[in-house]
Amino acid sequence: MSNVRFKTMEQMPLEMHKVKIVQKLNLLPVEERLKAIQEAGSNTFLLQNRDVFMDMLTDSGVNAMSDRQQAAMMVADDSYAGSETFTRLSKVLKDIFGMDMFLPAHQGRACENIISQAMVKKGTFVPMNYHFTTTRAHINLNGGTVLELIADKGLETTSEEPFKGNMDLDRLKKSIQKVGKGNVAFVRMEAGTNLIGGQPFSLENLEGVSSICKENGISLVLDASLLADNLYFIKKREEAYKDSSIREITAKMASLCDIIYFSARKLGCARGGAILTRDKELFNRMKGLVTLYEGFLTYGGMSVREMEALTVGLEETMDEDMICQGPDFIQFMVNELKKRGVPVITPGGGLGCHINAMEFVNHIPQSEYPAGALASALFIAGGIRGMERGTVSEDRDADGNEKHADMELVRLALPRRVFTLSQVMYAVDRITWLYENREMIGGLEFTEEPAILRFFFGRLQEKGDWQERLAEKFRKDFGDSL
Ligand code: F0G
Repeated sequence: MSNVRFKTMEQMPLEMHKVKIVQKLNLLPVEERLKAIQEAGSNTFLLQNRDVFMDMLTDSGVNAMSDRQQAAMMVADDSYAGSETFTRLSKVLKDIFGMDMFLPAHQGRACENIISQAMVKKGTFVPMNYHFTTTRAHINLNGGTVLELIADKGLETTSEEPFKGNMDLDRLKKSIQKVGKGNVAFVRMEAGTNLIGGQPFSLENLEGVSSICKENGISLVLDASLLADNLYFIKKREEAYKDSSIREITAKMASLCDIIYFSARKLGCARGGAILTRDKELFNRMKGLVTLYEGFLTYGGMSVREMEALTVGLEETMDEDMICQGPDFIQFMVNELKKRGVPVITPGGGLGCHINAMEFVNHIPQSEYPAGALASALFIAGGIRGMERGTVSEDRDADGNEKHADMELVRLALPRRVFTLSQVMYAVDRITWLYENREMIGGLEFTEEPAILRFFFGRLQEKGDWQERLAEKFRKDFGDSL
């Protein structure tokens, strides 16, 4: 818990839960790790779980559930229409967010599909603090253009700035003037801004965005998938809210927005998605799309069991002891890596620890995918599966030109309540070894490159034979240790 102080030793995060169910892990010898990553086309998305020791790919759908969530799953009311489970979930959503209309969907990107189809017309613009991959793809599919208006400080890799997810309010005003308010489909704010390192925005910034939207008659949409981390950071870093409860901060945020959607694979530690609004006309427009793409309005593609787990999970998200676990572990990992000279994104954000590949392997040009190369090297070094969040995660432009990402990151997700502190220290150890041997890491090139969201299924290969040489060096340095 955040306010438990250690008296005789250095402060470290303390879990406010105990483990009840475990899953055995397997750590392959380095030669097999090398083989596995090469068979996966150096793409960590294509690894088999049985070959992975620490799965730090994402928190999506893999946060640990509580005993109360699991128990709730047993009382799910399974019926095609009119399920009691839906009523229970609707009530909790209304209690927490104060919005009385709720549409269920099977996951976050399904919400994005529905919102984009209902609100984005060809030639319109969507200003946002920063894009997420699936969000931008849906907006583009409907003929819209994303305007990224993150404040300059958000893209500084190392800083003391507490709210790197803030939108630049001046640029928002100017952008609306430039494209004309009638051409703005909506403004989107992403909580715990994923692609810049899980960085939060402040409530003050959201208030600013909200008043500009109101002046111009534009809807404000909140992507609340990573809300839990953002809430914790507001409580800890924003002076004006240090005495507010998590529930009060949530209510205040929701009052500033017109639409809230989220991936329940993240928020609420379950699986599914939700769209909330107070706008009856918009609700009716989206309703038809939910029935068409997702399912009947009382389940929207979710299993009722997951809906019960979500109902409890959302209530648990209002508990500071629960939401502190991710950010506190992440900050711990960031500090340990920083102490050892490893370039990481600071301050620690939510979701995971983000390694700055642009600096870690600064000898690899962006055209050879430094973050992808580092992610594959980390799997060889420790059986640790991270996620490339750099140029591989960008698609080529309409003319087939490569778009170099603003940042080259390897994200090491810390799903909530999943890893122990010793596992985190193991990851720190292997990353540090890799950093000491960083000059051995080389670039990658595509062998198979899908046109859309290529990072999911694209296959790459090493340039030269650096992966083999790295595995040999590991064997030499670690002897017969795994
Ligand atoms: N919005 C944000 C901010 C997200 O992080 C995600 C998913 C989505 C929307 C889409 O939700 O996966 O349920 O369809 N992020 C996952 C990740 C994939 O690993 O960061 P979804």
